[in-house]
Amino acid sequence: MSGTDEFPILGIDHVEFWVGNARQAAHYYQNAFGFHRAAYAGLETGLKDRTSHLVVQGEVRFLLTGALAPDGPVADHVRAHGDGVRDVALRVPNAEQAFAVAVARGATPVHEPVVSEDEHGKVVRAAIGTYGDTIHSLIQREEYVGPFLPRFVSIEQTNDRTVGIVSIDHIVGNVELGKMNTWASYYAEVMGFTNMVHFKDDQISTEFTALMSKVMWDGVGRVKFPINEPAPAKKKSQIDEYLEFYRGPGVQHLALRTDDILRTVSELRDRGVEFLRVPDTYYKDVASKFADMRDEVDVDALRELAILADRDDEGYLLQIFSKPVTDRPTVFFEIIQRHGSRGFGLGNFKALFEAIEREQELRGTL
Ligand code: FE2
Repeated sequence: MSGTDEFPILGIDHVEFWVGNARQAAHYYQNAFGFHRAAYAGLETGLKDRTSHLVVQGEVRFLLTGALAPDGPVADHVRAHGDGVRDVALRVPNAEQAFAVAVARGATPVHEPVVSEDEHGKVVRAAIGTYGDTIHSLIQREEYVGPFLPRFVSIEQTNDRTVGIVSIDHIVGNVELGKMNTWASYYAEVMGFTNMVHFKDDQISTEFTALMSKVMWDGVGRVKFPINEPAPAKKKSQIDEYLEFYRGPGVQHLALRTDDILRTVSELRDRGVEFLRVPDTYYKDVASKFADMRDEVDVDALRELAILADRDDEGYLLQIFSKPVTDRPTVFFEIIQRHGSRGFGLGNFKALFEAIEREQELRGTL
């Protein structure tokens, strides 16, 4: 268990995306990202206003929800933000207590605790707000053995085409200029999180753009929430672009952990997932950084797949970033493999952000 004694967290329960077409989104995560469909809720299970598809890979659970009518919270969210993350749901041992503690410490109440039951048992769930229209559901489910939540039916579909994603490493939020510390304090005060790393704008800058980031975490690594804000610079940063197109703060990227990034990324590429590419010169630096580890780190293979590598005192990590997976230039994915390093790829930031700037240039949003 992690978090503080008064706000214990068992981990991320699932991430819910509110999207324009949940059926097609489920198909995308199934066929492009190697998830399998696990549960479904909709008209057939008694829902009137929305439909939800649960897709699963390793410990990662994505819930894809679409509206069945032109009004209501899901349709409103999609109209404002495009497809995006509505809920980073946290699993807690006692949802009523977690909600009461969070609200007493200044969290915005979104849903009071509600008990729902079916033949599979009992779930208690509440929700608090975070940046923008994003929420954290607090889910207590140890007395529940059903496929997901009440009203969901199981879809017994396996997928032998998994790409090897095992868990969520971190989930990053973008907030407005001047708001990073506000939200960092929010996680500190409400959930008892601490600041794991603080990247200042001189560490995350190119010639043209800059940003700042604070990584808030539960102290053990089950939950890591970096929070970015734009920093003043010559041109418009990727964070500004996000805030403009998402119409406010929200989840920017989800980092998914793999134990075999070469396999994961080549599978994803084969299935049409597009990634950012840094210039070949970047790999000269990687080759010298990993000169003593040639047996373990195959720089040619990394270059071929455009995978980035970074090294620190504790070890190294391999990572790659997708292009946005939504129509608007907002949400994207990171694939990460860690070998001891608990970092976030500081050594890659400049090359990566220059790659993002080239994409922004093409979009006319730099
Ligand atoms: Fe990341």
